[in-house]
Amino acid sequence: MLNTFRSLGVAALLTISALAVPAPPAPAGTVLTPRGHQSPDTVHEIPVGGKIVHVDASTVHVLNASGAVHKVVTFDSAAEAAAPSTDGVLPEETGWVAFASYFNNDAPIGSFQTTWNVPNAPPANTGQTLFLFNSIEPASSDAIMQPVLQWGGSAAGGGQFWAVASWYIYPGGTFFTPLVTVSTGQSLHGAIGLVGVNGNAFSYLCQFVNVGGTALEVDGGEQLVWSTLTLEAYGVTGRSSYPSGSTVFSQTNLELSNGQFPAITWATVSDPADGITTTVNVEGSTAAVITITY
Ligand SMILES: *[C@@H]1O[C@H](CO)[C@@H](O)[C@H](O)[C@H]1NC(C)=O
Repeated sequence: MLNTFRSLGVAALLTISALAVPAPPAPAGTVLTPRGHQSPDTVHEIPVGGKIVHVDASTVHVLNASGAVHKVVTFDSAAEAAAPSTDGVLPEETGWVAFASYFNNDAPIGSFQTTWNVPNAPPANTGQTLFLFNSIEPASSDAIMQPVLQWGGSAAGGGQFWAVASWYIYPGGTFFTPLVTVSTGQSLHGAIGLVGVNGNAFSYLCQFVNVGGTALEVDGGEQLVWSTLTLEAYGVTGRSSYPSGSTVFSQTNLELSNGQFPAITWATVSDPADGITTTVNVEGSTAAVITITY
């Protein structure tokens, strides 16, 4: 990579390459999401105040703030299974660098909330995209609901600044609220809450409760059971792609829909090769503290 850059003989690029080696480019014709690189026609922005309704196994309606159908997204699960998918280019979990998680076998989760501060800017621009979030996923299918802090670009926009959006991703599509810019040091309160149950159909609201325009409700989906606190990254070439210091997820609360707080021992995954560690400072489901150190 350095040799390629030197052979260009461009002084400006030499200066940049001395700081950090640029990451390989993203696969052509794809956009970056918290589920890796996806085909842009499967990625949908939700109007502010809108929501998503699972109408049946193959159809999702995106509603606008007045409740009118803004977009109909259909999904042919048989065709999806048969066709090569862009997921193969970069599988979902490739980008998960460090995380803590808890699989709930108890009564349904009523709410999962945590608080963390927007980090400093990373010292180098390596074309990286960083995602920090709490999330809940179903037991079997490849879906996720997550209030996400991002640095760098994604399908939602972004750049060399921190910004937030709520994302809902399931095999039939990727949905996000419009990005809202946030500032270093700002406290973020990410929350996912159960707002309705109808048989096997579960409805959740995902948002940063202290950042307007980030609420995303998804009605009639699967039950969500696997909770995580996660650092996900793309285009990282070394330590300078990350902020310095650490991100502390504090006031981490997981309450069941019956009002109880389960006994939680958080499982952790770190990335020792890159010096990224996940530490549980306070266990449990009330005011738990989990730190990701860069
Ligand atoms: C929602 O869509 C309907 C139908 O297109 C429109 O009349 C209404 O003004 C829209 N509401 C908002 C808040 O954009």
